[in-house]
Amino acid sequence: MAGKAESTAARYTEEQTSAARWQALLTAAVDGIVSIDERGLIQTFNPAAERMFGYRAEEVIGRNVGILMPSPYREEHDSYIARYLATGEPHIIGIGRETVAQRRDGSIFPVELSVAEARVDGQRLFVGIIRDITQRKQAEAELRRSHEELQRLVTELREKNQEIRILTQQLWQSAKLASVGETAASIAHELNNPLATNLLRLETVLERLSENDPNRRPLEIVQQETRRMSKLVSELLQFCRRGRDRVVTVHVNRELEHIVELVRHLLHKRGIEVVWELDAALPPIQCDLQKLQQVFLNLLTNAADAMPHGGRLVLRTRPTVLPDDCEAVAIEVSDSGVGIPPEHLDQVFDPFFTTKGQSQGTGLGLPICRRIVEEHRGKITLRSMVDRGTTVTVVLPLRQADAEAECVRAQRTGD
Ligand SMILES: Nc1ncnc2c1ncn2[C@@H]1O[C@H](COP(=O)(O)OP(=O)(O)OP(=O)(O)O)[C@@H](O)[C@H]1O
Ligand SMILES: [Mg+2]
Repeated sequence: MAGKAESTAARYTEEQTSAARWQALLTAAVDGIVSIDERGLIQTFNPAAERMFGYRAEEVIGRNVGILMPSPYREEHDSYIARYLATGEPHIIGIGRETVAQRRDGSIFPVELSVAEARVDGQRLFVGIIRDITQRKQAEAELRRSHEELQRLVTELREKNQEIRILTQQLWQSAKLASVGETAASIAHELNNPLATNLLRLETVLERLSENDPNRRPLEIVQQETRRMSKLVSELLQFCRRGRDRVVTVHVNRELEHIVELVRHLLHKRGIEVVWELDAALPPIQCDLQKLQQVFLNLLTNAADAMPHGGRLVLRTRPTVLPDDCEAVAIEVSDSGVGIPPEHLDQVFDPFFTTKGQSQGTGLGLPICRRIVEEHRGKITLRSMVDRGTTVTVVLPLRQADAEAECVRAQRTGD
C-alpha cells in the first residue's frame, strides 16, 4: 500500500517536475510556441507567441488556430488537419517552411514555421514553433535590390564603355581624315597649276598634229591621264574644303530624280532597274545643294559599279529624327550588287581606299560623302552583305544652325 502511495507520489512529483520544465521551456523560448489539438484548437501559447501576435494566452487558448493566419490559410487550416488525419501524409509536419502569419492588429508578417506531432495523455497534439523572419526577409529583399542595382550599373557601364569605344573610333577617324586632309590640300595646290599648264600645252600640241601622226595616240593617252590626275586633284581640294558654301531649301525627292536622270544612261547600259520608294510628304531640308548632289552622285555611281551585270537600285526617302531629336530626313540608296566583304567595311570611308583598280576609282567618294554629311550635322551609315547588296543611309537634319540664324536675322530686319 505504502509502496503504491509512494509510487503515485513519485509519479506525481515526476509529472509536476516535467510540467514545470515544460513551462520553463515555453517561457524561455525566443520562438513562438503554439500547440493545437486535432480540432485545431489552441492549447498552449507561450510568451514569445504573445509578443509576436499581440494576443494574451488566455484570449486565444481554446480558439481555432486559424485566427493566427491570414486568408486563405485561415479558412483552409481545418481541412489541412483533416487531410493529415485521414491520409497520414505530412505536408508540413516534420518538414517546416516559410509562410505568413497575422497579428491581432491584422498586420501580416513572414514566419518560419516547423510543426511536430506529440502525444500527451493519449491525446494527439501538434506543436508549432514560429520564428518571425521579417528582418531576414527585409535583408534578403535589400540584398536582391542591391544585386539588381549592381546588375543595372554593370549594364550601364557596359553601354558607356561601348559608347566610348565608338567615340574613340570616330575621333580616330576624324583625326586621320584631318591629317590626310591637310597633306592632301597642300599637295593638291602644288599640283593644280602644273597640271593645268600641261593640259593647255598638250591641247596646243595636239591641235598642231595631223590626224594620222604616229605621236597622236601616245599624246592622247598622256592627255587622258593628265585629265584624270586633274580630276583627282580637284576632288582632293573639294575634300579638304570645309564648311557649307551656300545653304538653300532643297526638295530631296526632286534632287534624287535629277541625279538619277544624270546617270540614267549608265544605269540603263548595266541593266539596272530603279525602284522608287519616295515619301511624297517629305519635308524640304536646308543644305548646300551642290554638295548634296555630289553625295547622291557618288552613292549612285558606287551602286551602279556594284551591279555590273544589272540588278535593282532602290531609292527610299522618309522623315526621321536624329539622336538629338532633331527633325530630319533619311535617304537610302540600296543596291542588289556584289556587297562589301566584312574585312573591308571598316575601310570604305578611308580616303583612297578603293577596289576599283588604278584608272577607275580614287577612293575619295565615300570619305567626301561623309565629310559633306557631317558638315550638315547629319549621319551616314552603310550596311552590306557579300552577294546580297549594300544600303547606304544618309540622314540630314531639316535645318542648319547657321541658316536658322540667318533666317531669324532676316525676319528681324524685315529682309
Ligand atoms: N554600293 C557599293 N557596293 C559595293 N562596294 C561598294 C559600294 N560603295 C562603295 N563600295 C566599296 O567601297 C570602296 C570605296 O568607295 P568610294 O566611293 O570611296 O571610292 P571608289 O568608288 O572606289 O572611287 P571614287 O568614288 O573616288 O571614284 C569602293 O572601291 C568599293 O570597294
Ligand atoms: Mg565611289
